[in-house]
Amino acid sequence: MQLLPTFTTFLLILASSATASPTPVVSAKRTCTTVYPTLQVPVDSSAPDRVYGSSSEVTVWKNSSGNRNMLFKFDIPIGSSNCKLKFHAVANPPIAISGTITINAYSLTSTFVSSTSWNSKPARAGLAGTADISVSNTAPTEQTVVTQMCNSGTINYELEAPTMGSIGLTSDANNGFYMTYGC
Ligand SMILES: *[C@@H]1O[C@H](CO)[C@@H](O)[C@H](O)[C@H]1NC(C)=O
Repeated sequence: MQLLPTFTTFLLILASSATASPTPVVSAKRTCTTVYPTLQVPVDSSAPDRVYGSSSEVTVWKNSSGNRNMLFKFDIPIGSSNCKLKFHAVANPPIAISGTITINAYSLTSTFVSSTSWNSKPARAGLAGTADISVSNTAPTEQTVVTQMCNSGTINYELEAPTMGSIGLTSDANNGFYMTYGC
């Protein structure tokens, strides 16, 4: 029978090539979709009933007067996967930052509105991620704060500085916090 030796040779080639170099995994490269917050609201422990309202100014700090935190809402299509909360900045950005600032991102148990204050903010579901954020005079910055499974339409975070520090910036397409999914 002629088939058998041929087949054996084929198997041997297959085996040796498998040992020599692993078969490359062919996977379609999926591009990320970027979304920006649909609502950003500052809340402050030193003015717990004050309503700051929707703001393009992102301010997060901790000092002797307390915590200025930022609530973020993102709308992600249902059925999405691989969500990331990221921070980015251009080189030498128009950002006031105290060196390196640690940012904790908490998931919230419910959503919030523009009139939410420190006292009325939703309870935290848990710490979703953390990052030590800094910017550079010479190169753009991109840092991941949270990597999470996602499937829901609305994702809410509360950003807080757990240690002394401050960051202040005006959100735009190049500076601030945003999310990616689907890649
Ligand atoms: C806390 O930091 C904020 C922002 O930098 C500032 O406006 C405020 O005066 C500071 N409070 C104290 C007590 O340092």
